[in-house]
Amino acid sequence: MSWLISEEGRQLEKTIDFGNKFLIGNGYFGYRGTMEEYDKSELPACNLSGIYDQQGASWREPINAPNGLYTQLFVDGDPYDLRTKEVCAHQQQIDMHQALHQRRTVFSGKSGEVRVVSERFASGTDKHLLLMSYSFCLENTTNIRLVTGIDGDVWDINGPHLFEYSHYSEGQTLGLSAISGEMKHTITVADTLTTDFEGTQRIFETEKGIFRQIEFVAQAGQTYHFTKSIAIYTSQDVAEPLKYAVKASHSANQKGYQALKKEHQQEWAQRWSMADVEIEGDDEAQLALRYSIYQLMIIAPRNSQATSIPARGLSGQTYKGAVFWDTEMFMLPFFLHTEPETAKNLIDYRIKTLDGARAKAAEYGFRGAFYAWESQENGQDACSDYNVTDVFTQRPMRTYFRDKQIHISAAVAYGIWETFQMTGELALLMNGGAEVILECARFYNSYAYYRPEKERFELIDVIGPDEYHERVYNNAYTNKMAAYTINIAEKVLEQLEDSPTYKAALIEKLAYEQEIEQLRNMKKALYVPQPDDQTGLIEQFDGYFKLEDTTVDTVRSRLIDPKEYWGGAYGVAADTQILKQADVVLLLTLFKEEYAKEVKRKNWQYYEPRTEHGSSLSPCIYALLACDIGDPEWAYPYFMKTASVDLTGESKQFAGTIYIGGTHPAANGGAWMAAVLGFAGLKISEGRVSVNPKLPKHWQKMRFKVQLKEEIYHVEVTKEGGKVWKQ
Ligand code: BGC
Repeated sequence: MSWLISEEGRQLEKTIDFGNKFLIGNGYFGYRGTMEEYDKSELPACNLSGIYDQQGASWREPINAPNGLYTQLFVDGDPYDLRTKEVCAHQQQIDMHQALHQRRTVFSGKSGEVRVVSERFASGTDKHLLLMSYSFCLENTTNIRLVTGIDGDVWDINGPHLFEYSHYSEGQTLGLSAISGEMKHTITVADTLTTDFEGTQRIFETEKGIFRQIEFVAQAGQTYHFTKSIAIYTSQDVAEPLKYAVKASHSANQKGYQALKKEHQQEWAQRWSMADVEIEGDDEAQLALRYSIYQLMIIAPRNSQATSIPARGLSGQTYKGAVFWDTEMFMLPFFLHTEPETAKNLIDYRIKTLDGARAKAAEYGFRGAFYAWESQENGQDACSDYNVTDVFTQRPMRTYFRDKQIHISAAVAYGIWETFQMTGELALLMNGGAEVILECARFYNSYAYYRPEKERFELIDVIGPDEYHERVYNNAYTNKMAAYTINIAEKVLEQLEDSPTYKAALIEKLAYEQEIEQLRNMKKALYVPQPDDQTGLIEQFDGYFKLEDTTVDTVRSRLIDPKEYWGGAYGVAADTQILKQADVVLLLTLFKEEYAKEVKRKNWQYYEPRTEHGSSLSPCIYALLACDIGDPEWAYPYFMKTASVDLTGESKQFAGTIYIGGTHPAANGGAWMAAVLGFAGLKISEGRVSVNPKLPKHWQKMRFKVQLKEEIYHVEVTKEGGKVWKQ
């Protein structure tokens, strides 16, 4: 039971939501959970990872490939389509253990009942393959027309991106290639069909598609079955995508659906044997946590170079398909503990995009590396200066996410350092990791402002994690992370001591000698807001406590339009203490060893009622700190909110007319963190794995594995304590 995510009934009003919920993927593409017969109005998408394009003046977004699954069944000339036909029964599900999408529909129409059963998977062993098995059975002997092929007229938020379609057909294989407008990427999809029935076949082309039509008389009670072996290649992968796609589609077809499914199942069984977290005593939490892990595993960039995970995963083009700090701060821990090779790919993306970060720093007049707030393929920042549209005037509003959210560079440095510590691989530092960290530290050095009257460096005019307060001074989180970056830059240089030639060359290349001296001074004098002696509270930024102290509900009641933006210059939260998401609490969570329990408790209690949790990144952090201060019952509702965000679909879907929905990988990673690092209290320090469980009262046991260097550790915890042993 706890491996199945299932929905019964037609529920057409949830079509878009189910597109996210029933997503399949393999890191190279994500395929939304839409029905085979849907066209672009229902937002089906085969969303490609790390390949972007721009249409006109709209923002750049990832490309959706032509839809190779497209299939429409006509019975006596009538389309049997979930949108328009009555159904006696309909079920859609994801079997998470096998990463399979399954659909069962019993249509009722003038020709009697028609049963459709389909199954699809994004191959876990060959990232270019999407496989489908489809069968149908009719109550009465009737004329059938089956149309199946590749629909290139795809859904886009800011598209269309594909032009100059070219069609290919040979035997049972169809192919469709198109070229993207801005970058001139070629995207090719090939599809080979195998049927267990025969009929009159015709291939037809539309401007943006190629299809087969098969007509025959279907006998009452007989099940007809076909499979589609779909291959997707782009010119970013190979010089001749059509050749590769046709070949891959052919050989997949020859191998057969069942054989490929078996390989896929074995691969997924293997993945789950490492990644699963078992919870005894709470089926709902178990399902939600597994689903979060499933989501992370279907979007993980494996065997790929220089791609990372966008903020909405591979569920579509929202958030420009861009990579945010979400990856390092919220998703990386899961991969570091269960799939270090994937964690290294994520880091590699930042190493490869260092030049983009350098260019951004230079653009603003700084030195070092200022990473993109919304990073695309070469590290360019997709975040616009006007990232929000005002609901009243419909005019773009000046926002400062791009220019002022400087904590992004610290997140990158933090991620690399965490990865180095977990893997112990010096090569990671020597192959670019050290350079990134040093350049991030240099950025903070050049950004910092020395205040002679206070004899300290400050970080002024920034935005912390709480985006509702723009252009603040000395955001505690940002200052602490900048100080930490300088710290790890020093540690990196220490690590390189045993490789003096490399170290000397790096320092010379970066002209870093003088920087080292300056960083030493800055480390001594960089201001990091501390807990107040009396109250124990850390002020989120200079002057925060002087802002109006009110409640989230009061601020909400001041909205004139429910879609109004809370932040920015005139937002309802801007002059109040109401914050969007965990900020000081995130700082205390990351550096929990450095602060007294009482300080953590007081800040949790102060900031929580003032937090709107307007970002899905927020609740998991409150859960983590609550566990740390020994209060799992406080943590539990935040954990559940995080773990079930993509199951309930309770997140904003539209901003004005713009679709902003999708999956929430940072929350998915946050759910894993809250469970393993929070409730189980997993700690890895100096090569030792230990636990300090704080289970919610109705949880009896948790079981999971973690990887540290080459070793796999089994962990089992109960309320009384825990056991850790090597495999
Ligand atoms: C949050 C950011 C986050 C972004 C992408 C925003 O709503 O405030 O912290 O990086 O969403 O998930």
